[in-house]
Amino acid sequence: MKGIILAGGKATRLRPLTLVTSKQLLPVYNKPMIYYPLQTLLDAGIKDILIIIAPDYSGQFLNLLGDGSEFGARFSYIVQKEPRGLSEAFILGEKFIGNDNVTMILGDNIFLQQDFSQDIRNFNSGGLVFARQVEDPQRYGVVEFDKNGKVISLEEKPQKPKSNYAVVGLYVFDNRVSAAAKNLKPSPRGELEIIDLQKFYLDKNELTVKIFDGIWEDAGTFDSLLRVGNIVAQSQLTSSNS
Ligand code: G1P
Repeated sequence: MKGIILAGGKATRLRPLTLVTSKQLLPVYNKPMIYYPLQTLLDAGIKDILIIIAPDYSGQFLNLLGDGSEFGARFSYIVQKEPRGLSEAFILGEKFIGNDNVTMILGDNIFLQQDFSQDIRNFNSGGLVFARQVEDPQRYGVVEFDKNGKVISLEEKPQKPKSNYAVVGLYVFDNRVSAAAKNLKPSPRGELEIIDLQKFYLDKNELTVKIFDGIWEDAGTFDSLLRVGNIVAQSQLTSSNS
């Protein structure tokens, strides 16, 4: 299993913070944001990791993370010149993925006390994504289930969400994903959407959506960044008191 951390993009929503560094290097309590998704991959036993970064602060990522040996892993880097959607990661990463399966995590997605290692280790083929109930599903990819828990629809940032289950930014795909990404057409907002790759596997009846209820934040807004920093601080306080 290979790993990808997608840490590109311009993060204009977080200006002026992102005028001095990349979103994924901003502090979340006592660590740069990217440490959290990195830890999620390391915890799942993934050691060969491609980090996709924007040109602007690429040197800062290299200084911070290096070749991965400090983390007991091996890191490679690719610069994504222009963000063209999350699915582009699988096109940029095609050679890196090779004949393996791949787990991609978004560099601003923070999972706390959540262990995906069994699910990732047991993955054989198809697609595997994770969904969580949220209060603001219109911010995310939304999955709708029927009475038996079967997936019946997937929609990106719907104005009228059909459920409150958000698909979180952790995706496990087999190596057909790069070819599938190359066949995608940009959405009306001009992006190669990750939801369309999920639909590629859903159409083949090869998509698994697992529901979980652990702590998860997409730290891409001021409010969620603050919230997740506080949650981390609180959890460290609790563990140092126990
Ligand atoms: C992206 C995906 C969306 C997913 C979300 C999770 O949205 O497009 O499907 O639910 O990540 O964080 P973005 O945060 O890039 O707007």
